[in-house]
Amino acid sequence: MIQTGLGNSHAKIILMGEHSVVYGEPAIAMPISEIKCSVTMKSTTDGQQTLDSRYFSGQINDLPTDMTGIAQVINILEQRFYGQDDTWHMKITSMLPAERGMGSSAATTIALIRCFYDYYQATLTEDELLKLADLEEHITHNNPSGLDAATVSSSHPIWFIRDQVIEPFEMKMNATLVIADTGIRGKTKEAIALVKTQLRDQPQATQSVIHQLGELTVQAATCLKNNQSLELGQLFNQAQTLLADLGLSHSEIDKLIKVAKVNGALGAKFTGGGRGGCIIAIAKNQTDAKLISDKLIDAGATATWVQPLNTIGVNHD
Ligand code: MEV
Repeated sequence: MIQTGLGNSHAKIILMGEHSVVYGEPAIAMPISEIKCSVTMKSTTDGQQTLDSRYFSGQINDLPTDMTGIAQVINILEQRFYGQDDTWHMKITSMLPAERGMGSSAATTIALIRCFYDYYQATLTEDELLKLADLEEHITHNNPSGLDAATVSSSHPIWFIRDQVIEPFEMKMNATLVIADTGIRGKTKEAIALVKTQLRDQPQATQSVIHQLGELTVQAATCLKNNQSLELGQLFNQAQTLLADLGLSHSEIDKLIKVAKVNGALGAKFTGGGRGGCIIAIAKNQTDAKLISDKLIDAGATATWVQPLNTIGVNHD
């Protein structure tokens, strides 16, 4: 009998709190239903174990540059299920562009773990899932907060504090988010290392910026719960200024943010590690979002997505 397995996960965006979350400040993040990663396994009788990962965003050049962490998790899973001796073909199909702050490495890993457990019909607890994913994230990013794995595995937006809190975050917003990809790869590992260096060289100033980012996250939570889109837009702008002060922006990010604002966005910032990757801009409504999205594409964004901010859930099945 042919045995099969399937595991899914989704892209994530960080609404507020990237980088400061590494140092214990809170963050708000959400999975994006439209942008999915799927891993499938199928048993074979050809005696070979194969991993086909050509399907990242449908383009070979969107593969993550470093698959070491992902390979390590596959290794652990193989050993875990060792003895159930069959061979399989595995295929990763991911719509997430790699290294753009969307959680590509975490999403691939989460989908992969879910797929293995599905294939071997084993029970997977949330703890086990995150423990394995965190292992990959540590190899890939070096001292990550765990936020990416927690968000891409979640079916709803989350409020997150490193090693302390992962809880559902309920929003009541009428505004719409526009996500735009600069097309520039930004390595989270390097971005995290940059902040670490600044903390070493200018501890007081950097600590103060990190704390201010944390404060903005707390204020953003209030806005998101009370439909205060104008205020949230301003908080996005303030966060972007602080993150840029840390050297985490990029000329393409700055360009897209400007285009979004000129075309009616209430505020905009990059999302994720920065130094490339994606921006998020708040639009008053769907019509504005569509216009902003079109203008961002005209300005050179390689892709855009429109995401209502009142989204409650994502289905990983
Ligand atoms: C990356 O998506 C988010 C960062 O805050 C790193 C982390 O939380 O691990 C930059």
